Amino acid sequence: MSQATTSSSRGRMAVPVRLSSSSSLSLLLLALLPILTSACDRCVHRSKAAYYTSALSLTGGSCGYGAEAASLGGGGFLAAASPALYRGGVGCGACYQARCRDRKLCAAAGARVVVTDRARTNRTDLVLSSPAFAAMARPGMAARLAKLRTVDVEYKRVPCEYKHRNLSVRVEDKGHDAPGGDLTIRFLYQGGQTDIVAVDVAQVGSSNWKFMTRDNDGPAWSTSQAPPGPLQLRLVVTGGYDGKWVWAEREVLPRRWRAGEVYDTGVQITDIAQEGCFPCDTHDWH
Ligand SMILES: *[C@@H]1O[C@H](CO)[C@@H](O)[C@H](O)[C@H]1NC(C)=O
Ligand SMILES: *[C@@H]1O[C@H](CO)[C@@H](O)[C@H](O)[C@H]1NC(C)=O
Repeated sequence: MSQATTSSSRGRMAVPVRLSSSSSLSLLLLALLPILTSACDRCVHRSKAAYYTSALSLTGGSCGYGAEAASLGGGGFLAAASPALYRGGVGCGACYQARCRDRKLCAAAGARVVVTDRARTNRTDLVLSSPAFAAMARPGMAARLAKLRTVDVEYKRVPCEYKHRNLSVRVEDKGHDAPGGDLTIRFLYQGGQTDIVAVDVAQVGSSNWKFMTRDNDGPAWSTSQAPPGPLQLRLVVTGGYDGKWVWAEREVLPRRWRAGEVYDTGVQITDIAQEGCFPCDTHDWH
């Protein structure tokens, strides 16, 4: 892990040099650009944002949070993300601060939203829930803002804050109530600003960890070799180019876990992924 960190930071540091040296090296820079832009999601981006008129579209969103979606975004501040932000489901649960750029209509603070769905459009980076869209407005301006339907916004990724919740998992229906065998869990209340990139499960007290694989489209992880409960979990969170283990070395799932039930891992993730986002992270959010 540390070796990867070192070499990629070196690559990043070299970028400005490549820009001003030879043309063959600037080809290298071009090859790096997609990596740099996608890794620097905490930079301020400009785009458009629209909103959903129905709250159902977001709670029933493709991240699969279902009934728990409303408790992810305080006050129903949810969003659907463009494919680039959605990242095949890795972007589920990420938090963004978005504000519209019309200062007559909109306040500078903007609204903080949690991604719960994939937007079916490339024309806007974010499709907000209507309460979130209205929350961008200055006092008394929400109705005028809503009439516009789509507005120019700037947004950046920000850490998620769940002060009164630990990272939790919901056992999905695919998991059998009986111990052993198939198990699918979906992560809820992931604080900080990181991505979960690996998940292992073991019986409490055992070091026989079984890896889980992420489902294709969402923040759910599965195994067909779940040991009998009670179960503990460990995961790797990363973002940018750093990673760290997060251990939930206690009973997370009881001996007889139940589909649909939400279980507390007892840990809170508050880390913010280390990213060198030169030059965009010099653009401040005032
Ligand atoms: C968005 O753009 C990508 C690549 O340009 C394309 O593959 C995808 O189908 C588009 N999605 C929608 C919903 O238009
Ligand atoms: C989070 O987990 C800790 C144990 O690690 C526990 O003491 C605390 O009550 C939990 N917090 C919530 C909000 O459940």
